[in-house]
Amino acid sequence: MGETLLGTSSSSLLRLPYSAALLQALLLVVVTFIIYYLAVRLRPGRTMTSTTKQLEQYYGCAAASVAACSLATSAAAPLPPGPVSWPVVGNVPEMMLNKPAFRWIHLMMTEMGTDIACIRLGAVHVVAITCPRIAREVLKKQDANFVSRPLTFASKTFSGGYRNAVLSPFGDQWKKMRRVLTSEIICPSRHKWLHDKRADEADNLTRYVYNLAAAGSSSSVVDVRHVARHYCGNVIRRLIFNRRYFGEPQPDGGPGPLEVQHMDAVFTSLGLLYAFCISDYLPWLLGLDLDGHEKAVKEANATVNRLHDTIIDERWRQWKSGERQKSEDFLDVLITLKDGGGNPLLTIEEIKAQSQDITFAAVDNPSNAVEWALAEMVNQPETMKKAVEEIDRVVGQDRLVQESDIP
Ligand SMILES: *[C@@H]1O[C@H](CO)[C@@H](O)[C@H](O)[C@H]1NC(C)=O
Ligand SMILES: *[C@@H]1O[C@H](CO)[C@@H](O)[C@H](O)[C@H]1NC(C)=O
Repeated sequence: MGETLLGTSSSSLLRLPYSAALLQALLLVVVTFIIYYLAVRLRPGRTMTSTTKQLEQYYGCAAASVAACSLATSAAAPLPPGPVSWPVVGNVPEMMLNKPAFRWIHLMMTEMGTDIACIRLGAVHVVAITCPRIAREVLKKQDANFVSRPLTFASKTFSGGYRNAVLSPFGDQWKKMRRVLTSEIICPSRHKWLHDKRADEADNLTRYVYNLAAAGSSSSVVDVRHVARHYCGNVIRRLIFNRRYFGEPQPDGGPGPLEVQHMDAVFTSLGLLYAFCISDYLPWLLGLDLDGHEKAVKEANATVNRLHDTIIDERWRQWKSGERQKSEDFLDVLITLKDGGGNPLLTIEEIKAQSQDITFAAVDNPSNAVEWALAEMVNQPETMKKAVEEIDRVVGQDRLVQESDIP
């Protein structure tokens, strides 16, 4: 009884400053939008114009807001031109009102007659470039300055606090995990080692597509996206966890409910990874989740984790207790890696983050490429005909395509 009372009173105490902060943030947002609407109404014509005089003003404004907001940067060189920005929130209101953002940015740059622009979103300067020459400067000459990926709420969550290779910022952890990936996971010897698992899955894919086509009537339809995504999911589950199914195998060879959940959560995560999230730009909004982004990220991460963690925890235990002796998949490799002193190289958290990383990377590009290539060939029957002829010529009609057929 006493404990319950204590619990309620402390939680309501905790809630007070939280709701005050919420109110404050909401008020700030509301006030900003009111100011914005007033400004738009009072100003004649568009919010963005392109005369040189105004451009100079933009330069001035941008430089002033940088000096005001980021004391860390030495404001030596001027920023590229950009739209006038509001205090604190920068150009977030304009971007929200002119969706999709990339069209708005492109139109604005065309109107300003510039190939490089700086748009301030809260505390972040977003630099947009439309000319190959400047792009080369950024991507080649200045590569070291721009090489790191942006830090977002989603990338931090999915990487378990930047423990993996792909999403971590440039630094020691990134170097460590990258070394693990290149020397232990995506090297030719491992590729050969896991050949049979991939070949099995190719057989299973063929049978599943056959079942799908045979199940319908004369006009049976196969959903290429569904098949391509689940094929990639099956392959990577076999390579990392040595299993095709989290749950029960399905009689037609297709995915069961858990596999569907897995792939849905992975593709949701990929969609959210670098999607716009207001608190990435206005960090004081973190936790309020005004746009629902944070909740969606946490849910997708939790689904993927729930499925992976059961297997990883159990496997970790098996190796630590000496029950397991032989490596069969990537997970075994990651768990048994040793550093120079013979101690385990990776923690279980790093292994979880890295398994998630490999899964994300393995399903995204291949399934999109297959879907795109087939769609393109449906639109161009000539190319489709050529592809069929090539397969008949190289592989023949008596057997299926093997990895060794690919030059
Ligand atoms: C997958 O293929 C392997 C080998 O070709 C076969 O033994 C297994 O039964 C297949 N599994 C399914 C679900 O079709
Ligand atoms: C998200 O997933 C990672 C594993 O990749 C895990 O370490 C982390 O705790 C998860 N984050 C949350 C907020 O659940």
